[in-house]
Amino acid sequence: MKFFLDTADLAEIEEAASWGALAGVTTNPSLYARIGGKLEDFHAHIKRICDIVDGPVSAESVAMTRDEIIRDGLELAEIAPNVVVKIPTMVEGLAATRALADRGVAVNMTLCFSVPQALLAARAGARYVSPFIGRFDDISEDGLAQVENIVAALNNYDFTSSTVNGERIEVIAASVRSANHVTQAALMGADIATVPFGVLKKMVQHPLTDRGLDSFLKDWEKVQNA
Ligand code: E4P
Repeated sequence: MKFFLDTADLAEIEEAASWGALAGVTTNPSLYARIGGKLEDFHAHIKRICDIVDGPVSAESVAMTRDEIIRDGLELAEIAPNVVVKIPTMVEGLAATRALADRGVAVNMTLCFSVPQALLAARAGARYVSPFIGRFDDISEDGLAQVENIVAALNNYDFTSSTVNGERIEVIAASVRSANHVTQAALMGADIATVPFGVLKKMVQHPLTDRGLDSFLKDWEKVQNA
């Protein structure tokens, strides 16, 4: 499993990248608003993220018609070679995804909540599809079961003739709220988990690691004083 950071916060991205295990970043309009982002700075901000992270950086189009999404997507793709255009799973989004994939632009189809949506995203040429776990749980559905179903359904077929450069579509477990979501998504075979910085920090922690470290340090003090 690869790990993406789900944030637009440059300090978080720099810190997470320094840990050596970060493969990419996903942003969305809400995450950009949360850091006080301004419309006119959006492209420059995505460029800054791309300068920090080598891997894919998802930047979302908020356009609602296929022509506008395609225009947006082509502009976003110009920012840096590792930009992935994030597009909501809807009719206009599918059409734009097909057009962008045909032009060699990688797309992450977001706000995916069902197997049929994921299958359509794959057939439209999406490079990534992002099933949302937490938001599905929020409406008393089972977000993790949806990830499991989507992974299983996509694995039944070969979509490489539809995608950019024949690459396999990868499933990004998104809307992750806990380290356990990551565990379960990994066991289900999700390719990537995109996690908020708070969850990434929790993924490193274990009380037995802390307790073990504490006793090792205390015993080492004894060695030094012996
Ligand atoms: C995915 O790429 C989205 O940015 C994100 O995971 C949404 O998460 P949320 O439901 O916690 O807002």
